[in-house]
Amino acid sequence: MCGIIGIVSKTEVLEKLIKGLKQLEYRGYDSSGVVTTNSNSFCRRRSSGKLVNLKKQLKEKPISGTIGIGHTRWATHGKPTEKNAHPHLTENVGLVHNGIIENYSELKESLNLKQVKFNSETDTEVITKLVEIELTENGLSPEDAVKVTLKKLKGSFALCFIFRGLENLLIATKRGSPLALGYGKNEMFVGSDASSLSLFTRKICYLEEGDFAIINREKVSILDCNYNEIARKIIQVSVDTGVLSKGSYKHFMQKEIFEQPAVISQVLGYYLNASDDSLTLQKYPSVKKTSRIILIGCGTAYYASLVGKYWIEKISGIPCSVELASEFRYREPIVNFNDLVVVVSQSGETADTLGALRHAKKFCKNICAIVNVEESSIAREANWVFPIKAGPEIGVASTKAFVCQLLVLMFLNMAFAEELNRLNENDKQKLFKGLLELPRIFTDILSKTKNLKKISKKLSAYKSVLFLGRDLLYPIALEGALKLKEISYIHSEGYASGELKHGPIALIDKDMPIIAINPKTDVFEKVNSNLEEVKARKGKLFLFTDNFGKSQSGNLTKAIFELPTCAALLEPIVYSLPMQLLAYFTALDKGTDVDQPRNLAKSVTVE
Ligand code: M6R
Repeated sequence: MCGIIGIVSKTEVLEKLIKGLKQLEYRGYDSSGVVTTNSNSFCRRRSSGKLVNLKKQLKEKPISGTIGIGHTRWATHGKPTEKNAHPHLTENVGLVHNGIIENYSELKESLNLKQVKFNSETDTEVITKLVEIELTENGLSPEDAVKVTLKKLKGSFALCFIFRGLENLLIATKRGSPLALGYGKNEMFVGSDASSLSLFTRKICYLEEGDFAIINREKVSILDCNYNEIARKIIQVSVDTGVLSKGSYKHFMQKEIFEQPAVISQVLGYYLNASDDSLTLQKYPSVKKTSRIILIGCGTAYYASLVGKYWIEKISGIPCSVELASEFRYREPIVNFNDLVVVVSQSGETADTLGALRHAKKFCKNICAIVNVEESSIAREANWVFPIKAGPEIGVASTKAFVCQLLVLMFLNMAFAEELNRLNENDKQKLFKGLLELPRIFTDILSKTKNLKKISKKLSAYKSVLFLGRDLLYPIALEGALKLKEISYIHSEGYASGELKHGPIALIDKDMPIIAINPKTDVFEKVNSNLEEVKARKGKLFLFTDNFGKSQSGNLTKAIFELPTCAALLEPIVYSLPMQLLAYFTALDKGTDVDQPRNLAKSVTVE
């Protein structure tokens, strides 16, 4: 999964290629590269590591050209070295690729038999070799050479080609991976998403499955999967690239954590009518005949879905299951016509979640998407879209998007409960009151981070951490552990505290820190007993609780972080904030790359 860009223009394209790649770094950042062509040659620069390394190289050795392609990589086949970085070149063909060619070893073997030499370990390079052969040995035109090659490829991909000496031709095509075209004045753009193109034009068109685009600076022809000319809708996008700055914050993650009071207010304003305690949600699928709700997501979105399940069964009384998107379509799940499927994804581009959505569509008619990126593939393919309105999330570790996913899951759930007459006026008002208090509670927690910094400092000395929670706070323990491991690289696991005695308790000794989330809830005493068991085995307990919990747990530990009291049902939202901060401060102590942690990418567009 990578980001690709292509530009054909009348003026120099290098600066724009780099700007576009900057926007695409969320899709991968382990190496990058660009290539241009002029009358007779290619001019390429590639670099391992972040885009900044490529920029440095280009400063020393600039390239010029009015047509070019660029790539930012998340390694799948081959190490993240300069040699494996895209664009890949043959004598006549330049290519950037997002996706995976599943039959590449087979293709490579057949090319090896023809004595074709490879310069990289990537799956991509076979494509350039195949197109080159069609051009030079079989005398095909660039369009036909690519078409013939495409027939041989298995897998999912988005490709953008340039050809040596052809200064007015880009070819772009997609199968599985997203690709958009941007229409400028005497220039045309290709990019993995709208945000990379919206820097240059707001007129965007999304290519559909199997589309094949022949792009000149004055004109684009789009052919469908049967190679018939087709008109795809051109839309005006509203991506506001101005907000993609850290402002006065050191990291995007820090900014995204600290802007949550404002973001929550915005989401509440979008979905609630505070004057009469009503939801503004007008259009949503009826659940009168729904036999089951299936929530699907990956990573943080999966944990948000777990909270959603607890809420839905508690409040709406509809049976609900939660699925890891990467497992869903391969385990032959039983999906019924009357099920309601809700996919949750910040980016709306996660390949596993998109695949799960497409699989579910074969069985039932109601597919909802809870997404942040409203122009995303998942949003476009779902029947119902519920935006989380979090604004762009750049830090790889999801923070504000998680909180907004929870909010939208709650709103949907409230709408379902109302339709089924399961939400009485009193409970509804309590929920409204609790929701409207969230911005204040978040502001309050964010103003008292001193104690959290101390806990983080201690945590950063450990190799392994356990997170415990129960009932609605169990998914928050899972999410807390995910946050900590992905940005501090400390091994961490979340457990339902009742599960401790079924195995993980064996890990507990004086060197095992435990983050316990236990405010006043119906299971407070049960969790407290689990924590006594931890204490009895000398585990280092760090307790996240409210005033009541603090008063009851004094003998368990002195390391207590006290949070304001909130509506019990909304505790997952409130307790996710100190988990985010804990991970952030620990990562600061460890000196890791907070916004772009190793081996990860913001948007996982391969399976
Ligand atoms: O864009 P999505 O919400 O579909 O992404 C799903 C996961 O890849 C994502 O939540 C990931 O787990 C985050 N890096 C967690 O912080």
